Amino acid sequence: MFKIGDVNIPNRVFAAPMAGVADKAFRILAKECGCGLVYTEMINDMGLIYKQARTEKLADIKGEMPPVAIQLFGSDPERMGEAAQIAETMGADLIDLNMGCPTPKIVRNGAGAALLNDISRCRQIVRAVNRAVKVPVTVKMRSGWDQEHLNYMELGGVAEQEGAKAVTLHARDRMQFYSGHADWSQIARLKKNLSIPVIGNGDITCPGDAVKMINETGCDAVMIGRASLGNPFIFGQTVELLETGTVIDAPTVSERMDMAKRQLTLSISFKGEYTAVREMRKHLGWYVKGMPGAAHIRLEINQASDSKTMLGLIEKIKNGL
Ligand SMILES: Cc1cc2nc3c(=O)[nH]c(=O)nc-3n(C[C@H](O)[C@H](O)[C@H](O)COP(=O)(O)O)c2cc1C
Repeated sequence: MFKIGDVNIPNRVFAAPMAGVADKAFRILAKECGCGLVYTEMINDMGLIYKQARTEKLADIKGEMPPVAIQLFGSDPERMGEAAQIAETMGADLIDLNMGCPTPKIVRNGAGAALLNDISRCRQIVRAVNRAVKVPVTVKMRSGWDQEHLNYMELGGVAEQEGAKAVTLHARDRMQFYSGHADWSQIARLKKNLSIPVIGNGDITCPGDAVKMINETGCDAVMIGRASLGNPFIFGQTVELLETGTVIDAPTVSERMDMAKRQLTLSISFKGEYTAVREMRKHLGWYVKGMPGAAHIRLEINQASDSKTMLGLIEKIKNGL
């Protein structure tokens, strides 16, 4: 157990915010598997302010096991503050500010990683949001725009000065997108210089990597993204390895399929069958990763258009393809 601000966090293994992936069903499974903190997909500040139904749905965390962070993206301090207030009334236990998204569409609007080019704006945003809400405010950032402009140390300091209660570093620059390797030495450097918790992120592929990141960097918590796709089991496995040194066996095919089935059922209850089945195509594709015959079954998965077909495929995979 440790704290971010005054919020108790049961363990040091967090699920990364992932647009198009970390929806309500995903977050519920991550928590059930033992994850200490989950984040919503990134939420557009204007969407919340203008009460867009789609945005409100993305930010809906009702009924989820706390703590849950709502992550916001935007570029205007005042609007971010306003959106944060709305997120707080929606039940956010923490407000996380996106200062790392590399997607051109987001960056063009001055949000996400574009903020790395304007530290004084980052300062104003953290300040405005911190004034607007009572819950702890956190910042998630990349290490800089490119290798010539690595300013994560400065931004980390600014975030702390302005009252952020934790900082997550995805140790890549914006221009790397997801290529190359995360440079964990940056996480170590940041940790040494800040008093608030530092959450390390980037390239944790298995529970052993999480232990390695903590040992190498001294970070307070780890955040896992891509390795959890179709694999929420990684959260519990990582908690167990960190806390007791125990290596939990990999889940069987049957356990994986039961998890996929539960994800589909949850997703249908939140999004309706049409959307849930279509979105489940990619998730189930991830669940079968590495299984013999996966490429072939993926073709079938991608054509499933109703829950009966999808559930039939899950059963088929469970029974050995
Ligand atoms: C599909 C996808 C969607 C993502 N969406 C977000 C997002 O909404 N907000 C955010 O801060 N980071 C987002 N990220 C970045 C992750 O949170 C994380 O920083 C990154 O994947 C590195 O961690 P990993 O190596 O464990 O995957 C996304 C990453 C992926 C792969």
